[in-house]
Amino acid sequence: MKQSAKAKAHTNIALIKYWGKKDPELFLPMNSSLSLTLDEFYTETSVEFNTDIEKDCFILNHEEQSEKETQKISRFLDLFRQEIGCTTPIHVSSQNFVPTAAGLASSASAFAALGAAMNSITGMNMDLSTLSTYVRRGSGSATRSLYGGFVEWQMGDCNENSLAVPVDDASWDIAMITVAVNTKQKTISSREGMQLTVETSNFYPSWIESATKDLKDIKQAIHTKDFEQVGLITEANGMKMHGTMLGALPPFTYMEPLSLEVLAKVREIRGQGWQCYFTMDAGPNVKILCRQSEAEAIQTLLKKAFPNNPVIISKVGGGVELI
Ligand code: DP6
Repeated sequence: MKQSAKAKAHTNIALIKYWGKKDPELFLPMNSSLSLTLDEFYTETSVEFNTDIEKDCFILNHEEQSEKETQKISRFLDLFRQEIGCTTPIHVSSQNFVPTAAGLASSASAFAALGAAMNSITGMNMDLSTLSTYVRRGSGSATRSLYGGFVEWQMGDCNENSLAVPVDDASWDIAMITVAVNTKQKTISSREGMQLTVETSNFYPSWIESATKDLKDIKQAIHTKDFEQVGLITEANGMKMHGTMLGALPPFTYMEPLSLEVLAKVREIRGQGWQCYFTMDAGPNVKILCRQSEAEAIQTLLKKAFPNNPVIISKVGGGVELI
């Protein structure tokens, strides 16, 4: 058994969204999803077995975290400790590398990095798809951060087959731009939001039907490198996910007035001939899929329209690494 390990994982943005669990205990999702890993935003995490401490300790961005936050991490660490029959406390130190005010600190890169570090320190050395079945139970979207490029999280129907698989390395002139609209902590977490939607939204059954078709279509478009189709499917799928929330009880939305202005601007820029397509997650920020070769020109147009908001370009990111 090694004494310490360190890993780095990038965040990912779903083009076909995960929005709802059929098993909240095991984090089995209601539908399969597909994402793009981003180079610009990542987490580095180190883990160390430490017999000098009584219980696990979790440091995030140089600050010791509360009992509650640490317990969440401990439960995740237990998944690995149980496998090797170990109860030794672990010191976890994690740092998020997200440009200031991007509002993109994500549980995806966090649990992917922590899972990869645990995979190494425990000597379990699982392949990434098997590791994703552990990482999933920290945060669903983290499964997809283990690989670079386009990644599918196949929903499966049990713990062992709900896992991530790489689809394409996305090395064909692709980038993503983030327009940070509001970087304050969100009021409804994605976990709560998706649960409320599954339980109460009348629109939910048709979301599942249409996400299933969108996934099939986008995989075909990725296969033929049809960027326009990838973009159009991404844009429609994201909006359909946001639509399910308007059908929930009580209805809710993550969109803010400025988010809508950004969406309108992206449509306008597209009308001028630039290939760009928006998507949004459980927050007001807007992510824009575009050609890497056109990213700077689009960024300039967006900065001009929204001079007070960070507009950040990210290239396609690679998979998790031990460092
Ligand atoms: C809107 O992965 O954060 O970003 O599994 O409960 O931790 P938990 O949820 P999380 O949800 C992500 C939701 C989303 C869409 C997506 O990334 O697929």
